[in-house]
Amino acid sequence: MSSAATAAIERSSTHEYDFTDRHFNLLRELVARHAGITLNDSKRELVYGRLARRIRALGLRGFDDYCALLERDEGAEMGEFINAITTNLTAFFRENHHFDFLAQTAIPEFVKANAASRRLRIWSAGCSTGEEPYSLAMTLLESVPSAERWDIRILATDIDSNVVATAQAGVYGENRLQGVSAARRQQWFTKQDCAAGQFRVKPALQEIIRFAPLNLMHEWPFKGPFDAIFCRNVLIYFDKPTQHRLFERYGQMIANHGYLFIGHSESMFGANTVFELIGRTTYRVNRGAR
Ligand SMILES: C[S@@+](CC[C@H](N)C(=O)[O-])C[C@H]1O[C@@H](n2cnc3c(N)ncnc32)[C@H](O)[C@@H]1O
Repeated sequence: MSSAATAAIERSSTHEYDFTDRHFNLLRELVARHAGITLNDSKRELVYGRLARRIRALGLRGFDDYCALLERDEGAEMGEFINAITTNLTAFFRENHHFDFLAQTAIPEFVKANAASRRLRIWSAGCSTGEEPYSLAMTLLESVPSAERWDIRILATDIDSNVVATAQAGVYGENRLQGVSAARRQQWFTKQDCAAGQFRVKPALQEIIRFAPLNLMHEWPFKGPFDAIFCRNVLIYFDKPTQHRLFERYGQMIANHGYLFIGHSESMFGANTVFELIGRTTYRVNRGAR
């Protein structure tokens, strides 16, 4: 017997539901087509685990039923399927050097460039449960001089409607606040109307953020330009051509003085874009390329 066949038998003997190559290939084709997400073979167990939960919740008999449901009615279950597959790991002030750069270098430049309009626009694309846009909001409100006299807006979007709802609610357990200093907890969070051990972000942060579900593979219903785009730890799930198309589209959305921030394991290597690398996963518009 081949080692692949042995592995398949071992896998199925530990599984509540039969999960074959046909199921896995169909599911990964659907997630690639709908969300741009590429799932390699190492993600097989992850897909099984997350969708077995979904199958149980729906009272289905197994993966045959689940695949048939997705094929039959892409609209209704497709969103839940994508929600189940996405990986939403995030944290407040994750990759903190980007927030330091924003406060010390980018914001002073934006303030000069936008002195006439007094508008500032930042996009958190792939915002997950909200820690990234709230970290951006704290940084902006702390670093823009007389911020109350500026029109500051953060657009925070994600394909996963569940995480967008969590982000909008803005309530976090203490264990989620590790990246937030005591002074910032005091200034930007309250324990009022929260269960024990929970913190709620203050309205001042929520007021400058607009949360919305958005699939980056679809049309974007806004024009920009953004002073900064944060798309961190999202591109890693896409194949190279999809990443390159996104960089091109971000190039069309970014102001001349703008910056694009990507995640620690991501790179624009090989992409033909208007951006030039100026620091750790930090890109600026190359004026000559525009
Ligand atoms: C690992 S989280 C990163 C969160 C945050 N940007 C950070 O760096 O902490 C990746 C997020 O990308 C979202 N995502 C994946 N594919 C997407 C797509 N096609 N359109 C929009 N968001 C997507 C996922 O739902 C997930 O919340």
